[in-house]
Amino acid sequence: MKIITVSYRLPLSIKKTKGKAKITQSAGGLATAVLSYSAKSNVNLTWVGVADFDKATWDENKDNYDRNFDIEPVFLEKQLNRKFYNVFSNSVLWALFHYFPSFVEYTDEGFEAYKRANEIVAEKINSIYEPGDVIWIHDYHFLGLPKLLREYQPNAKIGYFLHIPFPNFEIFRILPNKAKKYILEGILGSNVAGFHTWDNTIHFTECIEKILGIPHKNFLFSQESHRTKAGSFPISIDFDKFHDAYDKENVVALRNEIKGLYGDKKIIFSVDRLDYTKGITNRLKAFEKFLEKYPEWSEKVVFLLVLVPSREEIKKYGERKKLIELNVGRINGNMGNYKWTPIVYQYQPVNFDKLIALYTSADVALISPVRDGMNLVAKEYVASRKDLRGGLILSSMAGAAKELKEAITINPFDAEMIAEKLYYTLNMGEEEQERRLERMQRYLKKHDVFRWAEKFLTEIETIYQHDTKASDMKGDAQTILS
Ligand code: ADP
Ligand code: G6P
Repeated sequence: MKIITVSYRLPLSIKKTKGKAKITQSAGGLATAVLSYSAKSNVNLTWVGVADFDKATWDENKDNYDRNFDIEPVFLEKQLNRKFYNVFSNSVLWALFHYFPSFVEYTDEGFEAYKRANEIVAEKINSIYEPGDVIWIHDYHFLGLPKLLREYQPNAKIGYFLHIPFPNFEIFRILPNKAKKYILEGILGSNVAGFHTWDNTIHFTECIEKILGIPHKNFLFSQESHRTKAGSFPISIDFDKFHDAYDKENVVALRNEIKGLYGDKKIIFSVDRLDYTKGITNRLKAFEKFLEKYPEWSEKVVFLLVLVPSREEIKKYGERKKLIELNVGRINGNMGNYKWTPIVYQYQPVNFDKLIALYTSADVALISPVRDGMNLVAKEYVASRKDLRGGLILSSMAGAAKELKEAITINPFDAEMIAEKLYYTLNMGEEEQERRLERMQRYLKKHDVFRWAEKFLTEIETIYQHDTKASDMKGDAQTILS
């Protein structure tokens, strides 16, 4: 028995420059979480995803990537992949599901490519599937996949997990009817449909009821071939990995370097993929407001803004980048001086050790998405603070805010409020920092990524076994009656 985990993004990316291949780890919450799980668990795992490299590059490099799982790359034709990923997945689903309806650019061509790509991936999975396997499908790129796989393998154990918000009915209904139906029926092909929060789960069940007219009983939808259980499974992190990294030799050296650079100045830190959902422009404006409102903090604070390049081919991402850079320049020009740069901006990825050094140097982590399924950065910051120092400011629009109750929560649209909370957190006493972090760490240590995966996989097994027993009993009853 194996677990076939399916996501658009494989855990690795291979880019070739001047004939030389460079392998990097994929960014984002999904890859981080599933990689952490597979690294420590003893399960037999095969990862299916869309390759960002060609077959020859894969054949040359597949043995140069250290892993304890198999990888089955799917090679999509370039134009199809572009329409599937850029045009429908990211310019329709990502925008709409994050409540940016005005960013949605729907085209039938994009939708058709999305369906075709789901079919190709379904064929691939079917070719490696063996009875008893569990198929674990991830995220908004593969909303049609559970149904397609159910058609191939009526008795398969299929779990679907959405890593982004599921929007409410009023937002979801904006999609053309055929797309709405495809998505909802698609997810209903699974035995378990998982979301980060109960709000998302309720949105999903409401959409099923209102659009497909299928009622649920305790979040269970009964269909002829199987039942689908919808539920909340908040994703998490490998707590120990982040906590223990505090003492790593390289991390200590990097932390000393960062602290040495900024001396007595307090450090505000944030790291995100450059994405319009992350509230980066709001964050910058709020920081500016903070400096205006509390001029005594001038030259006493520095904001380290790390943005990881993401989806650069999509227009809205390019536009957002320009806007962010305009704001950084404007604020630094207006508020800074020849001795002090208020915002230190990096548009490049950081490796794990640097990330931990930054987390553990920061007096404040300022995380302000305008909409986020979970936000793992918030959890990672808390876990990494073995020293129990620092404060977390977190948007109430992130799924993580439902769990990290000791965070200082903000409305990401309210610059005045963020400025005040920044002032509060920068002045927070050590006792309060410890109390808040300790409670959140206790929670995260228990609710880690392993628990998330186990709970989800166990739920698939439970629903599946129950349905199998029920259908056996039905069969027996029919035999007795006949
Ligand atoms: P999203 O999934 O929308 O990008 P999250 O905050 O949930 O947002 O997850 C971001 C993840 O990406 C975190 O686990 C973070 O540690 C990770 N990350 C940040 N920088 C990099 C990087 N350079 N390479 C790989 N992963 C990164
Ligand atoms: C989010 C999504 C993932 C995605 C990641 C990075 O975490 O939920 O599905 O992989 O962002 O985005 P990218 O488009 O580069 O895969």
